[in-house]
Amino acid sequence: MKKVTVVPGDGIGPEVVGSACAIIKASGAKVEFEEVLVGLRAEKELGTPLPASVLESIERNGLALKGPTQTPFGGNYRIYIERMRGGKEWRADYPSIAIALRKELGLYVNVRPVKNYPGVASRYDNVDLVIFRENSEDLYVGNERMIDDDTAEAIKRITRGATERTARYGFEYLKKTGRRKMTIGHKANVMKMTDGLFLKAGQDVAREYPDIECDARVIDALCMELVIKPESFDGLLLANLFGDIVSDLAAGLVGGLGVAPGANVGEKCAMFEAVHGSAPDIAGKDIANPMAVILSGVLMLRHIGENDAAGRIDAALTKVLAEKKHVTRDLGGTAGTRAFTDAIVAKL
Ligand code: NAI
Repeated sequence: MKKVTVVPGDGIGPEVVGSACAIIKASGAKVEFEEVLVGLRAEKELGTPLPASVLESIERNGLALKGPTQTPFGGNYRIYIERMRGGKEWRADYPSIAIALRKELGLYVNVRPVKNYPGVASRYDNVDLVIFRENSEDLYVGNERMIDDDTAEAIKRITRGATERTARYGFEYLKKTGRRKMTIGHKANVMKMTDGLFLKAGQDVAREYPDIECDARVIDALCMELVIKPESFDGLLLANLFGDIVSDLAAGLVGGLGVAPGANVGEKCAMFEAVHGSAPDIAGKDIANPMAVILSGVLMLRHIGENDAAGRIDAALTKVLAEKKHVTRDLGGTAGTRAFTDAIVAKL
């Protein structure tokens, strides 16, 4: 039995994560759950939204299924972490739980499959691609400073090491899943050094995978092509900031953030979570759509080699979506979270 750290999170988190866990159990996958408290309730009951024991649980198990956590806007909100790391006392602070988890656990690549499902309204019906976003560097880390009151600057740092490990993860993923092509998105025509290095390092890794075609696009042209002919893309390799933007653009091609799963993967652990937030407006009402967390669970099962269970869940979900009888309101149905879950469990 493989143990998974389960983080229900805030808002609709407990409902949608509960749904995913029930479905994973019903699939017969050989996993068991270790539930931990993170977010607003943890802050109230344990004095911190992200207890060090949670990081230890994920490190021990190597796997986490996470619900959304709420991050207050503005102010000086920080998450403080104190723990032993490598035999030494370690202190750090972060602007959100998501960033704290990513950094503390060394989750260097964000993986976002983007695919059409029947019954999920979207402008396209033939999208099936996977985005690999470098997660640890680039402008996105927010290394900024004020030069004077009217001038600010940010440092864009790209390293060969971080780019290569993300690229290698991506190519391995394509190889394992039988995909044929990787497209590197960049702005190397203008940012010749930083994006130039990203492109070069990606192309160097591509040479290790002669069976997978590799091409490249300037990021603006890539965005246009994604909107015009998304079916022509298979794998996309992107640096952190472009990856952040293009991931949401791509989710919009197949029905939006509400149905998009994701994974953050590192050397030692991997964390799977929906892309949407905690949706406080609908929390506790049994109307949230659990599909994104269910699909994140499918990704997790594939990650640990539980491919049969993953395939069964994907097929059961696809059937329930196609029938349109037991789907949630955002998908045009009238079913609640629980009824949607029960319908998938019944198919399993
Ligand atoms: P949100 O994704 O929570 O909600 C946006 C809209 O989509 C709302 O109308 C909501 O009801 C709807 N929605 C979201 N997920 C849904 C689902 N599964 N089924 C049906 N409807 C759904 O984004 P928002 O309002 O910007 O953020 C709320 C909180 O979530 C914030 O505190 C934010 O920091 C946090 N958040 C956390 C994330 C994470 O933990 N990974 C990611 C994004 C936001």
